[in-house]
Amino acid sequence: MRKPLIAGNWKMNGSAELVETFGRAFAEVDLPSSLEVLIHPPFPYLDAARRAFANTPLGLGAQTLNPLHSGARTGEVSGQMLREFGVEYVLVGHSERRQLYRENDEQVYDRLIAALSVGIKPILCVGETLEERDAGHTEDVVLRQVGYVMARLEPEQRRQVTIAYEPVWAIGTGRTATPEQAQQVMAAIRRYQAGFDRELAEGLRLLYGGSMNASNADELLAQEDIDGGLIGGASLKVDDFIAICQSAG
Ligand code: 13P
Repeated sequence: MRKPLIAGNWKMNGSAELVETFGRAFAEVDLPSSLEVLIHPPFPYLDAARRAFANTPLGLGAQTLNPLHSGARTGEVSGQMLREFGVEYVLVGHSERRQLYRENDEQVYDRLIAALSVGIKPILCVGETLEERDAGHTEDVVLRQVGYVMARLEPEQRRQVTIAYEPVWAIGTGRTATPEQAQQVMAAIRRYQAGFDRELAEGLRLLYGGSMNASNADELLAQEDIDGGLIGGASLKVDDFIAICQSAG
C-alpha cells in the first residue's frame, strides 16, 4: 500500500504569519494517520515552520537545493543546511526552475543526488508544455525527464524518490488536467519504472500537480495511479489545503 502524500509548495509566497496560521490550524485538525502532509515554505521560514509545525502532522520540505555541500555559491543553499533545519523532502526539477532558471536534466540529477547524499528525500517534478502536448509528445517528454534521472540511480536510491507529474500548462492557470489525462501519464510513469523493478513501481509514489484545489482533489485522487498532490496556490489557503488533505485520507 502506498502512503498518500499531500505537499504544499508555497513557491515565493507566504509570510511568518502564514506559518503560524498553519501551525495553529493543523494542531487542531484530525487527519488520517495514513496520510503524509508537507509544507515547502521559502527558505527564510524553514526554522519558524519547524517550530510551528512541531505538534502537528505537517512535515517540512524545501523547494530546491544546490548540488554542493558548501562553497562559493552566492545566494545558494545546500542540502546539508536544509538537513540542519529538519527538512525531510526537497523538490527538484520544478518546471519554474527548469524554465526560469534554465535547469536541465543533468542539473536536476545533480540536485537529486545531493539531496540523497544527506538523507533528504527528493520529489522529482516532471511535465510537458502545452506545445509538447499539442504535438503529441507528452509521454516522450515526461519519460525522458524521469528516465534521465532514474536510469542513473542505484536501486535503493530509486526507492527514495517520489515523482510529481505537473503539466506545465496546468500550473497556476486554473486549467487542471482531467483525471483521465493525469491518470494516463502517471500510469505511463509507473509502467516505465516497472522496467527497472516491478516492486519499485508498485511502491513508487506519484503526485499530481497543477491547479489542484479543494473542488477537484477528490476526482484526481480517486485515480488508480495518483497517490497524492503537489499543490501551489491552494496550499496558501489553510482551509482549502485542509480540505485537500481530507480528500486524500
Ligand atoms: P498550482 O497549484 O498553483 O497550479 O501550482 C502547482 C505547482 O506548481 C506545485 O508545485
